[in-house]
Amino acid sequence: PVIELIGAPTDVGAGVRGTSMGPAALRVADLDTALRLLGFHVVDCGDLVGPLNPRQPAANGYRHLGEVHAWNTALFNAVLGSLSRNALPVVLGGDHSLAIGSISAVAQDCRRRGKRLRVLWLDAHTDFNTSAMTPSGNIHGMPVACLCGHGPMELISLSDRQPAILATEVRQVGIRSVDEGEKQFVKQTGLTVYDMRYIDEVGMRATVERALEGLDDDTHLHVSFDVDFLDPDIAPGVGTPVLGGVTYREAQLCMEMIADSGRLGSVDVVEINPARDVQNRTALLAVDLLSSLFGKSTLVRPTL
Ligand code: ARG
Ligand code: MN
Ligand code: MN
Ligand code: MN
Repeated sequence: PVIELIGAPTDVGAGVRGTSMGPAALRVADLDTALRLLGFHVVDCGDLVGPLNPRQPAANGYRHLGEVHAWNTALFNAVLGSLSRNALPVVLGGDHSLAIGSISAVAQDCRRRGKRLRVLWLDAHTDFNTSAMTPSGNIHGMPVACLCGHGPMELISLSDRQPAILATEVRQVGIRSVDEGEKQFVKQTGLTVYDMRYIDEVGMRATVERALEGLDDDTHLHVSFDVDFLDPDIAPGVGTPVLGGVTYREAQLCMEMIADSGRLGSVDVVEINPARDVQNRTALLAVDLLSSLFGKSTLVRPTL
């Protein structure tokens, strides 16, 4: 398929400024060339336009709700357009609140086509807060809850069906930071979370096997890749780093196994913060891993 790059240069959903520079960092790291080398036709659709960061404190449990809604409306429309052209959208974030718009579009497209949906959420965080339990009011800590129907009206009703997704359609990998109230809500909802302890105990191979279990020919796989999934030693350019993350080798294996599934249908690459980075390492690493996600391998692989 054609890969369409959709830039969403915003940080309105985050507490730390700078993810608005993420799309530029990925372009400087030559994401388009890396994907073309793999044989894809790549179209860079440029950057979406949305409101600037008004730098306001949280109000009623949400910081910048109106601005987050505006960005997500623009992204919802862009991703829906891309999918309707049978392209494979890659969202260049931006903060992780953007997953509300992208995955709402993916979910709507899946229902229309009668496809099943699997969301693979690669992250240090579960991003399952609501306004009642958030310690920060930052909406990038809430996208999974919003997509599952727990959030403000304007963010849970982008998709024509509510909730946009079911908790049972989500698998989270790499988790190592969950807030107190969030922890209870994750448990109560029955969200499937493969945390760092799980990866330590069974290894990345068994973890990803389980996370991809049950995919069939009719499943659309969406990968929401928050780069803070990676250990901050290798990916320092993020706003909310958490020690003890996924290693370079584990991340490569994870991406290669997703590629082998052959089901990849859409991607978010979010939370790259060049203001916190060292010589664009984090974007360069993300491009390296995205190459693996799109099928780059060291050797000619035996047919699976
Ligand atoms: N749990 C914290 C919060 O809700 C941090 C969320 C970080 N999320 C992210 N997408 N980086 O404020
Ligand atoms: Mn280029
Ligand atoms: Mn995160
Ligand atoms: Mn996240």
